Amino acid sequence: MIRRVVLILSLFIALPLAAREATPEWGHPDSAAIASANAQATDAGLEVLRRGGNAFDAAVAVSAALGLVEPESSGLGGGGFFLLRRASDGKVIFVDGRERAPLAATRDMFLDPATGEPKPLQTVDGPLAAAIPGLPAALVHVSKNYGRVSLADALAPTIRMAERGWRFGEKNAAMMGWRKAVLAADAGSAALFLKNGETPEQGARMRNPDYARVLRLLAEKGHDGFYAGDIATRLVEGVRAAGGIWTQEDLAAYRVVEREPLVFRHGVRTVITAPPPSSGGVALAQTLQMLDGFDWSKQSEIQQLHLRIEAMRRAYRDRAIFLGDPDFVEVPVALLTNPAYAAGLRASINPVRATPSDMLPGITKTERPDTTHFSIIDAEGNLAAVTQTVNLPYGNAMVIPGTGFLLNNEMDDFSIKPGVPNAFGLVGDDANAIEPGKRPLSSMTPTMVIDADKIAVLGTPGGSRIISMVIQGVLSLDSGATALQAAAQPRVHHQYLPDEVSIEPGALSDETRAGLEALGHTIKVEPRTWGNMQVVLWHRADGSIEAGADPRWKNVGKGATTEGSIFR
Ligand code: GLY
Repeated sequence: MIRRVVLILSLFIALPLAAREATPEWGHPDSAAIASANAQATDAGLEVLRRGGNAFDAAVAVSAALGLVEPESSGLGGGGFFLLRRASDGKVIFVDGRERAPLAATRDMFLDPATGEPKPLQTVDGPLAAAIPGLPAALVHVSKNYGRVSLADALAPTIRMAERGWRFGEKNAAMMGWRKAVLAADAGSAALFLKNGETPEQGARMRNPDYARVLRLLAEKGHDGFYAGDIATRLVEGVRAAGGIWTQEDLAAYRVVEREPLVFRHGVRTVITAPPPSSGGVALAQTLQMLDGFDWSKQSEIQQLHLRIEAMRRAYRDRAIFLGDPDFVEVPVALLTNPAYAAGLRASINPVRATPSDMLPGITKTERPDTTHFSIIDAEGNLAAVTQTVNLPYGNAMVIPGTGFLLNNEMDDFSIKPGVPNAFGLVGDDANAIEPGKRPLSSMTPTMVIDADKIAVLGTPGGSRIISMVIQGVLSLDSGATALQAAAQPRVHHQYLPDEVSIEPGALSDETRAGLEALGHTIKVEPRTWGNMQVVLWHRADGSIEAGADPRWKNVGKGATTEGSIFR
């Protein structure tokens, strides 16, 4: 039991020295670590490391397993970003497995032709909400190009778990509370996830042989195991029968894109993070570079919060205006991430007064909390930061019979009607308007931070709040937080519009809150916490390694500590 709890938070495995390839300039840590949102997924990664896999094989294993045991967050019907750093040559890679709009998608497809207004719920529930999945292609690509063991070996633990059963947990149940009615309305989802129409008991064993079959097809046939043949046919026929617009061509045409990661300086540190179609890396770069111009350690707590809020306000505004799929729109990444541009934005920050957002014209889009992230460092020093999603909890709540996975509702990440709030009060812009084959703008921000003392791999789910959480995570690691402390930080968020500072319950003392209000900030205490941050840290001086999984969810190992979790 104790060992089980230990495995829940983070897993460390010592590999024989002979198996390690030293990295010329970095050396290697003394063990490997995985931090993920679910112990069963972490176990899958650990097993693959034990069998001789590297961090990239383990990433494939954890990714596939999360799709099984955390279906509310991600899966084969969704997409993800794999940020990798290979120890042997220092190559950094960003594998973009983001979903794409179907080729028959149109800019106004979610608008009622009579009124020109968004049709309620169509971007969220049912067949039109689903974009073409990218995660299966990413698994095949990462395994083939960066893994050491076969895809079959990397997928084996999840295939076994799908056949024998996985354990339904607290987070599965909590998220199902929001989506049960829509899951119940879909025969495939109801059969796979509900027990007599109800949420399963926590601890219930869930079997999913269809998921195992799809993974076997991927292992056997690679990309075509999903994007051609039986699975592709089932998906297209199932989506179309329900009123959707997918075609075989959509699936046949899907490819991951390898993009240059976004790399920038943050004080003495180098940050490696997600480029577009994520908006997260650009906003992270802008915010941290604005803050780099202040003498941070000399600021009071209130002043640090004020400056962080003001920097986020400006970065989130630019995000809304400029960011979209770089294969479709020109995103001025070099300009937005230039320190000189950050200096200009910094100069507009009033150190003693909040800037009302309506003095910074622009638009923004709020995304909902969902998604999942995991971080891995192996004993050779390979790094993997992976954030993956089906968008809202349990995606579009559709399981096409015989497939074993939910489809996403990533179409909701597009601007449904540029400049005008959609059915959920969300507004967007032209850069992120729907176009056939386009990737919707994402906030997913898998990130690595490197300095002379340590190497950190981190990320989190949480919709548009992902970015503010990663900013906060980086700043807390800068000031010496452990991996667990960084993951546990009470959260404070501002995203330009609405012009308010969202905080977790208890995140700020009354005094700090009053201090921010005196500077002109509107504070909104949210009813619940958010995010699920996963951090792995490698201390370069002694090679030690630690992992911190967000303690907000019990099934990631509340309160577990590094000392208790080293596995040798
Ligand atoms: N669907 C959440 C995101 O990509 O940011």
